[in-house]
Amino acid sequence: MSPSSKPDAAFRQTVVRRDLDNVLHPIVQHRALEARQIVVTQAQGSTIYDADGTAYLDAMAGLWCVNIGYGRTELAEVAAEQLRELAYYPQSAMNVPASTLAEQINTLMGGGYHTYFVNSGSEANEAGFKITRQFMRQEHPQDTRFKTISRYFSYHGTTLATLDAGGMGERKAKFEPYSGDFVHVAHPHCYRCPFGLSYPSCNLACVKNIETTILGEGPETVAAILVEPIMSGVGVSVPPDEYLPEVEKLCRKYDLLLHVDEVINGFGRTGKMFGHQHYGVKPDIVAVAKGISSAYMPIAATVVKNSVFESFLGEPSQNRQVAQVNTYGGHAVAAAVAAHNIEILVGEKLADRAAEMGAYLRDALRTLMRHPHVGDVRGKGLLIGFELVKDRASKEPVTPAQIGTVVDFCKDHGVLVGRSNGGRRYGGVVNISPPLVITRAECDRIVETLDRALTALDLS
Ligand SMILES: Cc1ncc(COP(=O)(O)O)c(C=O)c1O
Repeated sequence: MSPSSKPDAAFRQTVVRRDLDNVLHPIVQHRALEARQIVVTQAQGSTIYDADGTAYLDAMAGLWCVNIGYGRTELAEVAAEQLRELAYYPQSAMNVPASTLAEQINTLMGGGYHTYFVNSGSEANEAGFKITRQFMRQEHPQDTRFKTISRYFSYHGTTLATLDAGGMGERKAKFEPYSGDFVHVAHPHCYRCPFGLSYPSCNLACVKNIETTILGEGPETVAAILVEPIMSGVGVSVPPDEYLPEVEKLCRKYDLLLHVDEVINGFGRTGKMFGHQHYGVKPDIVAVAKGISSAYMPIAATVVKNSVFESFLGEPSQNRQVAQVNTYGGHAVAAAVAAHNIEILVGEKLADRAAEMGAYLRDALRTLMRHPHVGDVRGKGLLIGFELVKDRASKEPVTPAQIGTVVDFCKDHGVLVGRSNGGRRYGGVVNISPPLVITRAECDRIVETLDRALTALDLS
């Protein structure tokens, strides 16, 4: 596969200059962009193309989101048709694509849910916090339930509340102070257990830690527990199978809502349609984004169980309706594209494919354990963490600079992998989260490139 438009060096240079003079980029240092740019002009399957014709295998699916792969032109037809029909009207009324999409989500979740539409994963979690608070005021008026328990090293978004909910000190530090509405507990991470224990003799100390925290805070002040089923931020951590069911039991015991962040896990990424479906739990609030449209349109949602939804029903005079509105929530074009994206995900059985290709890729990555600096290969489906250490026995992490050299080596050899930000202080992890359509040959290429990086670079 090659790009359809011809490389044009002068055009590329114009774009670079225009961009550097005018765009404020997130997360990357502009000086670094000046030194090493990618100007993406086209993409197909799992490959993106620079304006200079260079192809990169995108082993991160953008930002963990292009689940159906790039270049699905049929979605352009869906968007164009919907734009001609009706581009937009607010969710104070109904529109056809939003109702279709909500029905699809409800079906995929096994029934019993209603969907509130927003535009990004951060907004989906934020709306989840607000729906939770309103629910608690309505259902537990005698209490002051407002705190959410979340985990260290988690990431839940970029707004002040979602950042506060997250547990990455490094990402939060520049924006302090926070509200104090989020109480953090240790995360489940068996490779680097925060309690220094081993599964199963640990007896799930990470769950006990949550119960201690609920009791210490006072259950009458706690509203919800927020978890990402398989943590991505810390460099991908798959909890023991009992973890999420035990967390759900705590929610039921103390009348808390179980708020699950499926922003990355959702829509096939982990080998099931939703990450929580590996564990047989029924969350009360589910935040979805990214794979909902495979990033073909910006759209996200907060999905609430009907037992929560029912709290918002009543006469207008009772004032129980959801007390917020997002202008673009349920945008007809975004919803139509997302609904078609889901048809592709389901029709092509891409969750099953993620399970199959993920197992293949993890097995292949494990062959790299012959390099002394590979500490751990973990994940579910195509959500994979490849942890590098200075020394396998002591698990001493490689430095952030060393992980950077691995990521840059791969980029220079045409493969884009991620690195864990949470991992800067907590191990050094290469993240791999490719489109679910990735082929075996492309998986092999990721492994070969990492193999070459580990051979070429000094990680001692
Ligand atoms: C687990 C998780 N939750 C929430 C978010 C926030 O999503 P968005 O960037 O769309 O606001 C992200 C973003 O990467 C995420 O990984």
